[in-house]
Amino acid sequence: MFIVDISLIQQIVKSIGSDNFFRKIVLGLEKDFKNWNSFTKVPRSAMHVPNGVIELMPVCGDQYYSFKYVNGHVPNQQKGILTIVATGMLASVETGFPLLISEMTILTAFRTAATAVMASKYLARKNSSRLGIIGCGAQSEFQIMSHCLFFNIKEIFYFDINDEAMRKMAKNIMPLGIKMIPCANSRQVAENCDIIITVTAARGKNKILENSWIKKGTHINGIGGDCPNKTELDVDILRNSRVFVEFLEQTIYEGDIQNLEPEEIKQVVKGELWEVVAGLKNGRINDDDITVFDSVGFALEDYTILRLIYEIILNDQSLKKLVNLIPENLLNCTDLYSLIK
Ligand SMILES: NC(=O)c1ccc[n+]([C@@H]2O[C@H](COP(=O)([O-])OP(=O)(O)OC[C@H]3O[C@@H](n4cnc5c(N)ncnc54)[C@H](O)[C@@H]3O)[C@@H](O)[C@H]2O)c1
Repeated sequence: MFIVDISLIQQIVKSIGSDNFFRKIVLGLEKDFKNWNSFTKVPRSAMHVPNGVIELMPVCGDQYYSFKYVNGHVPNQQKGILTIVATGMLASVETGFPLLISEMTILTAFRTAATAVMASKYLARKNSSRLGIIGCGAQSEFQIMSHCLFFNIKEIFYFDINDEAMRKMAKNIMPLGIKMIPCANSRQVAENCDIIITVTAARGKNKILENSWIKKGTHINGIGGDCPNKTELDVDILRNSRVFVEFLEQTIYEGDIQNLEPEEIKQVVKGELWEVVAGLKNGRINDDDITVFDSVGFALEDYTILRLIYEIILNDQSLKKLVNLIPENLLNCTDLYSLIK
C-alpha cells in the first residue's frame, strides 16, 4: 500500500508539470462522467459542527472504491490556518484492500479547478477571454490555471473582501503574464467577464452576484455555495440561466439551487453535468444563454484524481512510498494473531 504525502504530490506535479497534470485530470473526469451510470453513488455524509462542516465522500466504480475526508471551517482563517484540508483513500474493489492513502488538500484544489474548467468547456462560449474570480483564497490560483489552459484568457478581473488575499493571488498569477485587473467589488467583475467563478468562503445566504449585473452569454461557475445555508448567487440568476449540477440528490441540499422552491428546481436545473459531457443533453444552446454550473464537489471527482495518482505511482519506481498498514504477508491468512504473539 502506498502513502502519498504532500512532498510526493509536489514531486509528481513538478515532474509532469501542472499544465499536463490538469490535462490528465480533465481527461480522467471526462472518462468517468461519461461512465456515470457505472458508479455506485451516494450524497456525501456531512456533519455540521459549530465552526463548519466535516464530510465523508465515498464512491464505488468497477475497479476502485474511494473516499475523501474533508472539512470546511471558515473561522480557521482567523487562526491563520487553511479553511479546507482533506485526506483520502483508493481501494481495490476486487479484494477490498486499500491501495493508497493520500493527502487531498492540494488534490481537492486541482480536481475542483479541473471540474470547473470541464464545466466551462461544455457550457461557456468558446471565445471567452475575460475571466472573473470572486474570492482570492486557496482555490483561486488553481481555478485560474485550469481556465488559462483551456481558454485564450486575456484579462482576469478579480475581487475579494480581503485586500491581502487579492495581493497574494495577483503575485502568484503574475508569472502567467496575463493582464490582471483588481476590482472594487463583485459587480465590476461581473460586468466585465465572459466566465465568472465565485469561490468565496462566505457563510450564510449571500448575493455575491446579483442578477442585474450578469450580461447575456456569461458562464458562471458557482464553487463556494456548497453547504446548506451557504450560497453565493441571487436566485434570479438561476431562474434566468441554464443551470447544471453534479449529482442532483446532493446538490439539492448543498448547492445554490437550495434557495429555489422545490417545484422550481425541476424547471431551472437543465441536467447533471455528466449528461452534457456524454452528449445526452445540450449545455449552451446559443451565445446569449447565461449558463451556471452550481458546483458543490462530488466524490467521483476525488476518485478520478486518486486513480490518476495511483497510475502515476505504479509507472514510476522513484515515486513509490510504501507503508505497512495492511497485514499482507501472513503465512496463514487466518493467523492474524501471529503478528502480535
Ligand atoms: N465546489 C467544490 O467542489 C469546492 C471545492 C473546494 C472548495 N469549495 C468552496 O470554495 C470556497 C473557497 O475555498 P478556499 O479553500 O479558497 O477558501 P479560503 O478561505 O482560502 O478563501 C476564501 C476567500 O473568500 C473570500 N471571501 C469571503 N467572503 C467574500 C465575499 N463576500 N466577497 C468576496 N470574497 C469573499 C475570503 O476573504 C477568502 O479570501 C469555500 O466556500 C469552499 O467550501 C468548493
